[in-house]
Amino acid sequence: MDVYLDNAATTKLDERVLEKMKPYFTEKYGNASSIHHMGQESSVLLTKCKEEIAKRINGDPDNIIFTAGGTESNNMILKGVARANQGKGKHILVSSIEHASVLKPAEQLKKEGFDVELIPVNSGGFVELDQIKKMIRPETILISVMTVNNEIGTIQPVEQIARFARKNGIYFHTDAVQAIPYKDIDIKDWNVDFLSLSAHKFYGPKGVGLAYIDRKINIEPQVIGGGQEYGLRGGTYNLPSIVGMTEALKLIYQEKDEYINRVFELSQYLWKRIKEEIDEVAINGDPGNRTPNNLNVMFRRIEGEAILMDLSTKGICVSTGSACSAINLKASGVLQAIGLEDYHLNSNIRFSLGKFTTKEEIDYTVSCLVDTVKRLRSFTPIK
Ligand SMILES: Cc1ncc(COP(=O)(O)O)c(C=O)c1O
Repeated sequence: MDVYLDNAATTKLDERVLEKMKPYFTEKYGNASSIHHMGQESSVLLTKCKEEIAKRINGDPDNIIFTAGGTESNNMILKGVARANQGKGKHILVSSIEHASVLKPAEQLKKEGFDVELIPVNSGGFVELDQIKKMIRPETILISVMTVNNEIGTIQPVEQIARFARKNGIYFHTDAVQAIPYKDIDIKDWNVDFLSLSAHKFYGPKGVGLAYIDRKINIEPQVIGGGQEYGLRGGTYNLPSIVGMTEALKLIYQEKDEYINRVFELSQYLWKRIKEEIDEVAINGDPGNRTPNNLNVMFRRIEGEAILMDLSTKGICVSTGSACSAINLKASGVLQAIGLEDYHLNSNIRFSLGKFTTKEEIDYTVSCLVDTVKRLRSFTPIK
């Protein structure tokens, strides 16, 4: 049986989204920057996509810049905002549990002379406003805190932080790549200046996302060329993918309630069975205030990588953390940040459920997991 429990890494494209995209590859393929009628039809559609997305996230369509995904959006915002606003100050605060696509640009800015500080999180995996209050300075220009963490699913108090940042004249960015559909994004109510999204996390195509950028704020473009996206991001518009992202967002919001209930029930069921059938397990991160699709579990005394590989031979896809730390095989910075002891850092598995997950798949996963853990523990030297 094939079981996919790695929906936080990426999701399967919804067939309805694919159908919607198809004509824009082969029939309606005009370049949205061309003056002729095919180009203009594409341009009108592009505007419509921005309007539709803006309505769903309660933002302004003119502030939507299409990108190649979350990584590009985060790079664009972090570097673009810092470099364009350094006259106001060079202090930047970034949470310690951000995705690498925020942490790496932040490191790069540090090398360029910016004063970048990491905001610690508490043991539940949350950034606390009081901590930020202690860390800001008159020269702080930007705070970046993700909406939902990709490894442990914790939902951050971004509205609270964004309001505080605005009151203090500090720009605020949130990486909301893992938030849809678990938290309703409301740009205006939250008071965020910048936000990142990526379509492949909500059953849309890979390689497309958006950077929401309050265009009243100066930002230095990172990719320049043909002047697309108000000169903020050069490159021919990827219309089929933009149409796909718009459709995926519409569908996920339309089907949100049923979707959330289903993954919640299934993940509760998964945890209940793991707890009942396997000893020495614990949930990483707050058990309550997290997205319902995420279950990050510690299996004491055994390596997460070994569990992952063994489950993979049985057709089951899970992960040990983010796909990026899997490439580097580094211990998870997120689990370190929430205070896990060194000897527990490599004993964790992230199960991330999705809209195609079934109860049969969960039953199969648990039965394989019980065997895998038993076998691995039988020859571990760790007591
Ligand atoms: C929180 C978060 N931010 C950013 C990204 C990067 O998005 P993309 O794969 O679209 O570049 C990911 C993907 O894993 C993520 O989980």
